[in-house]
Amino acid sequence: MADVTEFQDRLLSLGLARVSEAAALASAKLIGRGDEKAADQAAVNAMRDQLNMLDIAGVVVIGEGERDEAPMLYIGEEVGTGNGPAVDIALDPLEGTTLTAKDMPNALTVIAMAPRGTLLHAPDVYMEKLAIGPGYARDTVTLDMAPAQRVRALARAKGVAADEITVCILERPRHEALIAEVRSTGAAIRLITDGDVAGVIHCAESEITGIDMYMGSGGAPEGVLAASALKCMGGQIYGKLLFRNDDERSRAYKAGITDLNRIYTRDEMVTADVIFAATGVTQGSILQGIKIEPGWVTTETILMRSKTGSVRRMLYKSPMK
Ligand code: FBP
Repeated sequence: MADVTEFQDRLLSLGLARVSEAAALASAKLIGRGDEKAADQAAVNAMRDQLNMLDIAGVVVIGEGERDEAPMLYIGEEVGTGNGPAVDIALDPLEGTTLTAKDMPNALTVIAMAPRGTLLHAPDVYMEKLAIGPGYARDTVTLDMAPAQRVRALARAKGVAADEITVCILERPRHEALIAEVRSTGAAIRLITDGDVAGVIHCAESEITGIDMYMGSGGAPEGVLAASALKCMGGQIYGKLLFRNDDERSRAYKAGITDLNRIYTRDEMVTADVIFAATGVTQGSILQGIKIEPGWVTTETILMRSKTGSVRRMLYKSPMK
């Protein structure tokens, strides 16, 4: 029986790759067209259609927003045929809508699937994030440490000087003090304009990407997606929800969160084994972007399962429609 479940898991994971591919393909013609909304909508429609073909009884726990603000792939929407395992779905049909509209690097389509009740129902608020790659002891760096302390602690653990550490940070006015403090240690900073799921994933492949640590605040839903990826690739992420007003606090209570000051570890955001798929939209350091040649379109997808530690990279070439 265990073998049958395992086989179904494998098939479902391939199905999940098709879901993320479909969203990327749909946004292909909108790369560089300056229209964030159209690009996002195309990806949402395609992701939803493809997801509804999967034999799962899925519920979207990280999605396009609350039911009253997102007509499709809203939080709580049931997806799949209903014939299959009960699962939580976390998705971002287009992570980096502006990156896509401006044809800037590292826009991705992203989806994660785990047994029902095992993904954090993160409300649509900001999350303070801190991530490092695999191979470090637990709590080598923590959110309680000041940013400069984190750089020094990671440098010690890596056996290098602080100026050999590279930190990835979203370029935002709110991060000015953070950036200044990290610079004071001599560490290098890779500033990104958007796309912190990719930002965090960079840490898991630091030899390739050159990034050792991710810091700063971004979307909480993206935090759960990034935690899913790191659960498959190895690495640690810590997240603390940030609230700017009562409306945001009430979103958290509605999602079942009672301790608003809690710091979540990777395995508290994703409490069971997870399957993660992402497809490159624009050219990136983790995934190739969509390539269009006369008559053909090619995508690259990464598909990972935390249970087995498997990482598949798949090129898919399909006739241009
Ligand atoms: P979208 O794809 O929804 O535009 O999000 C992009 C993103 O950069 C995320 O990766 C990140 O978590 C969030 O926006 C940061 O939010 P803000 O732009 O408000 O700083």
